[in-house]
Amino acid sequence: MSTTTIEKFIEGIPKTELHLHIEGTFEPELMFEIAKRNNKKIKYSSVGELKKAYSFNNLQEFLDIYYAGANVLITEQDFYDLTWAYLTKVHEQNVVHVEIFFDPQTHTDRGVSFETVIKGIYRALEDSRDQLGISFKLIMSFLRHLDEASAFKTLEQALPYKKWISAVGLDSSEVGNPPSKFERVFEKARDEGFIAVAHAGEEGPAAYIWEALDLLKITRIDHGNRCLDDDQLVKRLAELQIPLTLCPLSNLELKVVTDLRDHPIQEMMKKNLLVTVNSDDPAYFGGYMNENYIETAKALDLSKKQITQLVINSFKASWLSNEEKEKRIAEIEEYSQNN
Ligand code: ADE
Ligand code: ZN
Repeated sequence: MSTTTIEKFIEGIPKTELHLHIEGTFEPELMFEIAKRNNKKIKYSSVGELKKAYSFNNLQEFLDIYYAGANVLITEQDFYDLTWAYLTKVHEQNVVHVEIFFDPQTHTDRGVSFETVIKGIYRALEDSRDQLGISFKLIMSFLRHLDEASAFKTLEQALPYKKWISAVGLDSSEVGNPPSKFERVFEKARDEGFIAVAHAGEEGPAAYIWEALDLLKITRIDHGNRCLDDDQLVKRLAELQIPLTLCPLSNLELKVVTDLRDHPIQEMMKKNLLVTVNSDDPAYFGGYMNENYIETAKALDLSKKQITQLVINSFKASWLSNEEKEKRIAEIEEYSQNN
């Protein structure tokens, strides 16, 4: 298929996004606008200067800038505007279902209430469901560089909003903060009825993926690239069809891979792993969903059949009902036959 045909095919196919940090959608233009209305200072003098700082050698260098950016978010309206901007953007890209992370501790540690954060995000999600037809799930992620007590406190704060939150996750600085640090928090979260997911094997070793599975009892892995270091692990993930939410452009920008042509997604498909394409922090990594699919398809010369499989994988890996999944998959198969 020619490049333009592949692009058109990807742009038109209905997609779902399963690995997206709402704080990672904060575009510099909106950041400056919100900083101004909140009288908050940004370290950089202009949008252009800020964008120049988006060059990272590893996860931590990115996280330092990402947390600094989030500092200007103060009011419920700020969280609404941030979320609404993301949803309208992906609506244009034919994304029809999203399962998104928010990091409450990034805000509560600065004195912004849990209620302010979740109400702004949730109202935007409801509006996009009603006005744009995007269905959604919300995942509350614990920051793994903070301690267990802080995660427990966050879980307590979330309980009054249990109906709005489908799952708990684990993100931030991976190496040195293994899943085992949060075993008891995740046990309590699961007892409260939350689904469990965790970032594992992005920079950290395959052992962290084992821990996430065995100790946190997660049902979906965020990233998981490093599973390829361990044949036994690959076998288990394939047998149980545990989804991996991969983020190709994020991996490139954070030097998890040095070239997109070396991205393991195709190899993982061949090993029968349930892999999916996602954007992670699109405002920082140069692309939303379509760009992630397009750049990956070009770099690895993916076929139309492989692209279709990846899109179907995402719906399979989502938390939509079986009925909704079947409907979406039938729609994708029909699209793929006709385009
Ligand atoms: N928080 C936002 N993006 C992240 C990533 N790629 N890894 C870990 N924590 C994150
Ligand atoms: Zn992530």
